[in-house]
Amino acid sequence: MATAAPFVPPPYPYERIDRFKPLAEGFEGGLIDLSIGTPCDPPPASVIAALGGSNAERGYPPSIGTAQLRRAVTDWMQRRFAIEVSPDDVAACIGTKEFVGTLPQWLRLRRPDRDTVLYPAISYPTYAMGATLAGCRGVAVPLTPTGGLDLTAISAADAERALALWVNSPGNPTGAIDDLEAAAAWGRRHDVPVFSDECYVEFTWGGRGRTILEHGLDGVVAVHSLSKRSNLAGTRVGFYAGDPELVEYLREVRKHVGMMVPGPVQAAGVAALDDDAHVELQRARYRSRLERLAAILHEWSGIEVPIPAGGFYLWFEVGAAWEFTERLVRASGALLSPGEFYGADGDRFVRAAVVQPDECIDRIAERLGARA
Ligand SMILES: Cc1ncc(COP(=O)(O)O)c(C=O)c1O
Repeated sequence: MATAAPFVPPPYPYERIDRFKPLAEGFEGGLIDLSIGTPCDPPPASVIAALGGSNAERGYPPSIGTAQLRRAVTDWMQRRFAIEVSPDDVAACIGTKEFVGTLPQWLRLRRPDRDTVLYPAISYPTYAMGATLAGCRGVAVPLTPTGGLDLTAISAADAERALALWVNSPGNPTGAIDDLEAAAAWGRRHDVPVFSDECYVEFTWGGRGRTILEHGLDGVVAVHSLSKRSNLAGTRVGFYAGDPELVEYLREVRKHVGMMVPGPVQAAGVAALDDDAHVELQRARYRSRLERLAAILHEWSGIEVPIPAGGFYLWFEVGAAWEFTERLVRASGALLSPGEFYGADGDRFVRAAVVQPDECIDRIAERLGARA
């Protein structure tokens, strides 16, 4: 009897650059880690107060999210995108990584006749990993020259087998803004649910941020996180909203798995969503760091380092990405991530997350002798 090969988890991408870290030890102040998009700036004081004062530690929290959290989400969507979504069509997740990583399993149970997950060819690696963990096919959709999904490149056969299409705008790592209306229309035409990962939407640089839900809820689900918006990656809270049937299905399945955002964290999520001022401040921080670091890296390397359309990553073409990464860490103690972490098509690029405090960026400039 033929058996499938046993699954062996691949090395976690970021562990592959651990060997570069000792190269920064000689610098006073050590390593400046720009490889991971982990926020370092503080969340608002109201969030910290809510974490400690919610009185929600004792009982089990609702898996779907408290009424207050789901209401805070819909109020935020009203303010941010001028759309009306019912709290019934919203549910919580424990940060969005687990949602992305487990979604294909649940979709496959719902549609056993399908087995394929479509995702951007240069993207957050968990889209592909979610497919693998569900025993599905992950099919990378090529990007257009402007960094959006090339929907015309999806074959009819793959569309027929697709459980989901992932779109990510602004995208990690490219920062590109995608055409969410076109993605929603493609999904409806092919009867494929479209999941729109919008965790960087508050950091949209040219104009206002967009959600796929502006184009109707039918067949689409928007996925959001407070990790980036509110510097809460350590508390783990996100949410998804959209097509009533899909949201209902997912929230019921996820209840059975015990996917629950801790009660105090749900209270903190309400405080974070109710406050827009800290997001303004964070936006200004990221924008100025993007500009400063791009200028420093350009001055040092002579390479073009464009400002992205959204997000907080510099994504630029260097040719030999591993070599560039090593050269930079030796020269400055700053660690980037090689582009192949985000797909084979990204292997000539590197990514720099501008998550470190301004003093660290000053230090990189000093170490490189940059005037910028
Ligand atoms: C595109 C994208 N989606 C989702 C996530 C997951 O974030 P979290 O699990 O903290 O919500 C990340 C994190 O870097 C990301 O870049």
